[in-house]
Amino acid sequence: MHTLENNFGSKISQNKTDETVEVISITHWTKNLFSFRLQRPKSFRFNSGEFVLLGLPDSTGKPILRAYSIASPNWDDTLLFYSISVENGPLTSMLSKIKKGDGVILKRKPTGTLVLNALRPGKKLFLFATGTGIAPFASLIRDPLIYQNFNEIVLTHTCRAREDLAFGQLVLASRQKDCLLEDLDIKKLKYFPTLTREKFVNEGRITDLISSGAFFRDVGILGFCSMSDRAMVCGSVDFNKDMKTLLSSASLGEGSINDPGDFVLEKAFAG
Ligand code: A2P
Repeated sequence: MHTLENNFGSKISQNKTDETVEVISITHWTKNLFSFRLQRPKSFRFNSGEFVLLGLPDSTGKPILRAYSIASPNWDDTLLFYSISVENGPLTSMLSKIKKGDGVILKRKPTGTLVLNALRPGKKLFLFATGTGIAPFASLIRDPLIYQNFNEIVLTHTCRAREDLAFGQLVLASRQKDCLLEDLDIKKLKYFPTLTREKFVNEGRITDLISSGAFFRDVGILGFCSMSDRAMVCGSVDFNKDMKTLLSSASLGEGSINDPGDFVLEKAFAG
């Protein structure tokens, strides 16, 4: 973990508008994964799990904006984001170099389907993530509502290597210090990380572990139950498609904010 210097700061601060918010901190988790914390404007409201457009001006001053899931819960004073840095990526290559005090453009209209209101009431909540798709779940697992609304929560995170799990694991551990979760049973959340390119306790894609039954054996259930199981999915387009097939074949129906269902999905945006 280290903080990088950058040379965008002066340009960004010169262009400050009412949509520009200040960077509080940036953490580099791996060569290409980083998180950053922004000041939260007082009027900025959102539901845990939603995403927002944020970005930086390019060399001509034109804003480059991308959708980013907010990785902090709706009660937090600051806004946390988690990103991959894509070499030559127009936004992420610049964003990975921001430093404390720089300005980032933040659009004020959060939205998204990975919100509790898009799910019908249930007993068990599955949160399936790959890569940076953990971001909306980092928000939701610190929201008291999921512990109040569900008896059991299972968070899965599939990554290539062990170091890619670090951000999610720190957020999981940080729940111990969240005052709002103090009286709730946070142990009802079971964490199921899997790695695809390194030796690990759980190896392989979560989709394959679901198909083989290994995942259910570990969680201690026979399979998905459409009566009581609810799920949220966030990862690559292919991952979402594969998960949708698996969940649909277990008779879970896809939901949306206007028509709550048994599962909802959203693409992991950053990258
Ligand atoms: P794999 O290594 O087998 O491609 P990425 O780093 O490419 O964003 O992927 C993040 C993780 O998601 C990797 O472990 C990758 O596994 C896994 N993954 C990619 N596509 C799928 C999919 N369709 N189903 C399940 N896991 C996937």
